[in-house]
Amino acid sequence: MCGIVGYIGNGEAYPMLLKGLKSLEYRGYDSAGFAIVNKGIAIEKDIGRIEDVEKKIDLSMLKGSAGLAHCRWATHGSVTKSNAHPHADCSNKIVVVHNGIIENYSQLKEKLMQKNHAFSSETDTEVIAHLIEEYMKNSGFEEAVRNALKEVNGSYALGVICADEPDKLVAARNESPLIIGKGSNGMFIASDIPALLEYTNSFVYLHDRETAVLGKGSIAISDLEGAKKNFKVSRINWSREDAEKGGYKHFMLKEIYEQPRAITETLNGRLKNGNVIFEEEINLSDKEILEIEDVKIIGCGTSWHAALVGKFMFEELAKITTEVEYASEFRYRNPIIKKNTLVIAISQSGETADTVAALKEAKKLGVKTIAICNVRGSSITRAADGAVYTMAGPEIGVASTKAFTTQLAVLYLLTILFSKARKTLNDRQIKDMIDGIRKIPLQMASVLNEDMEIMNCAELYHKKTNSLYLGRGVNFPIALEGALKLKEVSYMHAEGYPAAEMKHGPIALIDENMPVVFIAPHDIYTHSKILGNIEEVKARGGIVIAIATEGDSEIPKKAGHTIFIPKTLYTLSSMLAVIPLQLLAYHIADKLGRDIDKPRNLAKSVVVE
Ligand code: M6R
Repeated sequence: MCGIVGYIGNGEAYPMLLKGLKSLEYRGYDSAGFAIVNKGIAIEKDIGRIEDVEKKIDLSMLKGSAGLAHCRWATHGSVTKSNAHPHADCSNKIVVVHNGIIENYSQLKEKLMQKNHAFSSETDTEVIAHLIEEYMKNSGFEEAVRNALKEVNGSYALGVICADEPDKLVAARNESPLIIGKGSNGMFIASDIPALLEYTNSFVYLHDRETAVLGKGSIAISDLEGAKKNFKVSRINWSREDAEKGGYKHFMLKEIYEQPRAITETLNGRLKNGNVIFEEEINLSDKEILEIEDVKIIGCGTSWHAALVGKFMFEELAKITTEVEYASEFRYRNPIIKKNTLVIAISQSGETADTVAALKEAKKLGVKTIAICNVRGSSITRAADGAVYTMAGPEIGVASTKAFTTQLAVLYLLTILFSKARKTLNDRQIKDMIDGIRKIPLQMASVLNEDMEIMNCAELYHKKTNSLYLGRGVNFPIALEGALKLKEVSYMHAEGYPAAEMKHGPIALIDENMPVVFIAPHDIYTHSKILGNIEEVKARGGIVIAIATEGDSEIPKKAGHTIFIPKTLYTLSSMLAVIPLQLLAYHIADKLGRDIDKPRNLAKSVVVE
């Protein structure tokens, strides 16, 4: 859960490393450090955010054309200067940055200490530097890295430089993200693509247990035995502007506002002549779709909420029994999976450790798997049989927003595909579904126009300490998502519940200090029930904020504030209803002066268990 960037080339390394690292700061912001090769290796690091470290140390004196940088989210060892990366061996000649966890580090450390290696941190990472040092007694630099990694259990994305071989940067990965950027003026490594967009659009994906030796103009990839591997250079069409704030105060706000475009991109080319076209992406024939007996969807956090919406759609429309599981639970029990189960893993980053591991568990059980993911070439897309990309573009804010709605769009397209193949819906219904989603981008834009009203609610209620989010059916997951958004960016306590469950406990919390957000788009089955729930909250003095469908005349009579969303199909209402909740969380957090894009204790991708 850290950020890594590395460079070797003809340019000045430090400014590029700094820029790349700043864009990776969402991955960890306990401490930051740099190592630059120049007649030896100069290391500078300290605790705090990158800008704090810049204030404490004059980093501009770091001159050289190869180096590494790291921002840390502490796992092993507290937040201290000595635990900050980069870490070096006894001679300060071998320097590493690492993201991941070395599970057997204490055994390795003990062994190395017996051989008189002196450690200067409490981290698991430092053992790698000493292990390489040990192997370099009998072999060259890259071979020593490979040999060291053969002894290591756990996850790593690694950048290594060596003062004795200043023309090489060695990188390696296992279950932690790392990409190689092929620039015109040098080679890069980074934890994600946006960190390098300023310098290149050409990327090479490193696979698990592979190492790469980068020179100023060369890339060589091999496995841990040293056997050469072929690789492909892929071009990514994300632009640098996509990964910048573009005039918005925060990435989160920019990403909320990008949703109409993100949905348009996600639909692009996938709706043709009344059909959903996934080309080879899902890698399932019509026959295989017909044979699906169950679907299991796995994910974490917001992606898990998307999975719940997917369950609703698959069961309601495609009539496929669907279970949703937290990836972290799925991987550690013995799930019963029938032969014809389809497992879908959802992840924005494609690197969430639990989701990757759960998907691999499912694969071991021999069932078909699909990944729904935003990042090309990420671990889950490589592990799954098929991968459908959400075309949200880089999501930088820690709070997931556009990734969520594009996940819903993909799940909706899968629902159409499955419903059509299984003939659970007729042509008219399919057409209505397609017409419905085509309108969503414009309808999202009109929801964004409600921002002033939402800001007004934020002004009134940002000092409250608790809140409740209630929804039913396809909008129960939206209640969970709204509560999660508020918690993570504002640190205000919030709970999401199915609206009717309120009477079974949470109602005891309601008083005049409790805002209750009802997600209540019109639905013939539950609308009158939700109206009843609103009355119950009001009777106890609670403050009601409602999300309702345009034209609903009942809800505004009862709610303190009503935010309208355009009329759409019930299954699509979740995609619109979540936007006011994202904005509400954002504005409350902003009024409280929170660090919205990098909320405390969080990191964008949770690549540790
Ligand atoms: O990259 P993933 O979708 O796998 O990430 C899963 C969760 O860590 C993520 O959704 C997290 O809950 C977000 N911070 C929510 O906004």
